[in-house]
Amino acid sequence: MDTATIASLLQEGRTFPPPEEFRRQAHIQDMRLYEEARRDPVGFWERGAAELHWFRRWDKVLEWNPPYAQWFVGGKINASYNCIDRHLSTFRKNKAAIIWEGEPGEQRVLTYQDLYREVCQLANALKALGVKRGDRVTIYLPMVPELPIAMLACARIGAPHSVVFGGFSADALRDRIQDAQAKVLITADGGYRRGGVVPLKRNADEAVAQCPSIEKVIVVRRIGGIAEQTMQKGRDVWWHEVVQGQPGVCPAEPMDSEDLLFLLYTSGTTGKPKGIIHTTGGYLTHVYITTKYIFDLKEEDTYWCTADIGWVTGHSYIVYGPLANGATSVMYEGAPDYPDKDRFWAIVEKYRVNILYTAPTAIRSFMRWGEEYPQRHDLSSLRLLGTVGEPINPEAWVWYWKHIGGGRCPIVDTWWQTETGGILITPLPGVVTLKPGSATLPFPGVEAEVVDERGNPVPPGQGGYLVLTRPWPGMLRGIYGDPQRYTQTYWSRFPGRYFTGDGAKKDADGYFWLLGRVDDVIKVSAHRLSTMEIESALVDHPCVAEAAAIGKNHEVKGEAVVVFVTVKEGVKTSPQLAQELQAHVARKIGAIARPDQVIFTSALPKTRSGKIMRRLLRDIAEGRALGDITTLESPGVIEALKEQYGEEREM
Ligand code: PRX
Repeated sequence: MDTATIASLLQEGRTFPPPEEFRRQAHIQDMRLYEEARRDPVGFWERGAAELHWFRRWDKVLEWNPPYAQWFVGGKINASYNCIDRHLSTFRKNKAAIIWEGEPGEQRVLTYQDLYREVCQLANALKALGVKRGDRVTIYLPMVPELPIAMLACARIGAPHSVVFGGFSADALRDRIQDAQAKVLITADGGYRRGGVVPLKRNADEAVAQCPSIEKVIVVRRIGGIAEQTMQKGRDVWWHEVVQGQPGVCPAEPMDSEDLLFLLYTSGTTGKPKGIIHTTGGYLTHVYITTKYIFDLKEEDTYWCTADIGWVTGHSYIVYGPLANGATSVMYEGAPDYPDKDRFWAIVEKYRVNILYTAPTAIRSFMRWGEEYPQRHDLSSLRLLGTVGEPINPEAWVWYWKHIGGGRCPIVDTWWQTETGGILITPLPGVVTLKPGSATLPFPGVEAEVVDERGNPVPPGQGGYLVLTRPWPGMLRGIYGDPQRYTQTYWSRFPGRYFTGDGAKKDADGYFWLLGRVDDVIKVSAHRLSTMEIESALVDHPCVAEAAAIGKNHEVKGEAVVVFVTVKEGVKTSPQLAQELQAHVARKIGAIARPDQVIFTSALPKTRSGKIMRRLLRDIAEGRALGDITTLESPGVIEALKEQYGEEREM
């Protein structure tokens, strides 16, 4: 975040107490829950777990040998059973679990009973293809109902899933399959995005060609007529064919509470994405109870989280959290501006959505597009709004409050990470007075602190590093295949405490204000990328000698990717080459990583020990006065860059 935004955040003085109408009907109406959880945090989580179905109850709630936690030790549980079967003996059997809308406008409604049948059929098909408990299954699908069905089918038979966002490239998919050593890939012929078709099967074929672990590829026919010729005999099977004739009943495997439920790859500070490990009992308890209290979920609500299931928000707050609660969720396949910029509001009106959860970057786009789009629709069904993924600037917060929430809906600004599994810092909407731009307080049972370099808590109002000081059930259990990286990344900087990688401040009321990443992770339109990943993609291009990527403050995206590139001897720089490099990064990683700008330079600013000074590059890109450059190897480089960058901006 740039200093101006941070300053505006910290001067923000407005407060918004829970509207009385909302408070009176909320699950949690007073602060007692916080008090209880403070006295007995483990007991708080245990009561949440007790609301789920266990084949066998746990012997011990928490076993904590820092940095390794085990939750609900000895318990046997199945996530798919809890998301489906648990509801079938109640009136929820015929309740809509998922209301799906395709981008072209089709609609599909799956009741819990429908979901049960489809999940069981696919689970049986997976078994017939040789998938056994413990085998990894990679899922690379658009936002179609088959995506949650596939996840729940895997969970049902104890095969951990690894979902790869459909916007990732063939190379990114290949790396993730190889790391997980997946046995089966589930994909589709394509998906719709802004009226066009994303060729998923083509990417999948390219990736699988280099993935000997893959034995079978299951293909959903979403588009039709585009992948028929590509089906490889013996390897590729159509989804609709493999499920045909499979029994609609498949017993759910009793899993150990600490068995792997899924891997989800995310970007860190190196070029290699890490496979975050989430296990079953603790994760499910965490997402179940946070969904219930934070979204104040009621039986009759229609809930819509606009994230893609390829990211953690979709895993926890489209699939596992809402379904474990027996909720009705809306799921939408496409873009918010297709066919027009009112698509979200048309969906809210059509399904009478009550709870809407989206990202600040989307809200900033809506602001820019103007109030006329939400005004075209009746949004009076909304009663609660949420945001996630990046800091929200107070201006966007207030716009969301006014123009989407009509001044009557609390906003839950929820802070968490892929690694945390579920939400950790957030208001409880019936209790907590909101301050625009602050994620407010740790969820009951969670303890967070802001500390300085040495790990000492900083006084109120002072910036520092956000750490978590006690284990929580949804926390990652490790990085797949790299135990050392787990300890090193999260637990070594402040021993015994989890280091989030985020900067934060705590105010005099104990409210947390998140200030963005303090490492080489950037958030572009709330998507998490690493500068190193982009740099590796660039140096892979034959013309590039060296590259440095930074996140530059951006009005809508939060951060935009800007890259500084030096070319190899004899290569001529040109606008064409810049374009080629932009396309190259998009091809290597995915369109989300495409740099907004490529700056050619004769050298990169480095410290005497050879480290690229990204901070200086960010200062240049954002037109700020340069900080300390005394450690720079050759200060001339920076002067030249500054001059050149000024020119490029005028171009
Ligand atoms: O920097 C924080 C930011 O997103 C990072 C985690 O990204 P990811 O693993 O992709 O998960 C995103 C969805 C949970 C965090 O380290 N972040 C997430 N939520 C917020 C946030 N920053 C400020 N406010 C938030 N509400």
